[in-house]
Amino acid sequence: MIQAKALAAVALGVAGAAGLAGTALAQATYETSPRAPEYLYARTCGYCHGHNVGPVIRGRNLPAPVIAAMVRSGQGAMPAFKPTEITDTELQALAQWLSTAPADPRERGQ
Ligand code: HEC
Repeated sequence: MIQAKALAAVALGVAGAAGLAGTALAQATYETSPRAPEYLYARTCGYCHGHNVGPVIRGRNLPAPVIAAMVRSGQGAMPAFKPTEITDTELQALAQWLSTAPADPRERGQ
């Protein structure tokens, strides 16, 4: 019984360490090879924007600094994104891209 418990503790420890290493690795990867704006938008922003949650933000020529500030601060139902989630480099490119991205006719606002 004691052995099983010890084994479980070791297993949890290994899983925890692997999780931490995974996070550190992910961050290091985004730092060294930033994800493309289109990818980030589709995976993160487009989850809400264009899909009936939040306003449509493409095709509106919103200023890049406004977009970047919004992403870091969040507002109402929009969460704030930390530099560990979207790096400064990625955010700069994302905001720049979004400020001139054409409207997507398939998108629907709130
Ligand atoms: C969980 C849903 C959600 C996600 C994910 C999300 N947003 Fe939002 N966003 C919103 C909502 C809701 C609002 C409206 C907030 C309000 O006015 O109270 C908003 C507002 C905005 C605005 C202001 C639009 C305007 O008309 O003033 C910008 C810019 C914006 N989001 C950019 C982004 C970007 C860039 C991302 C991806 C990094 C993102 N959002 C991810 C829900 C989301």
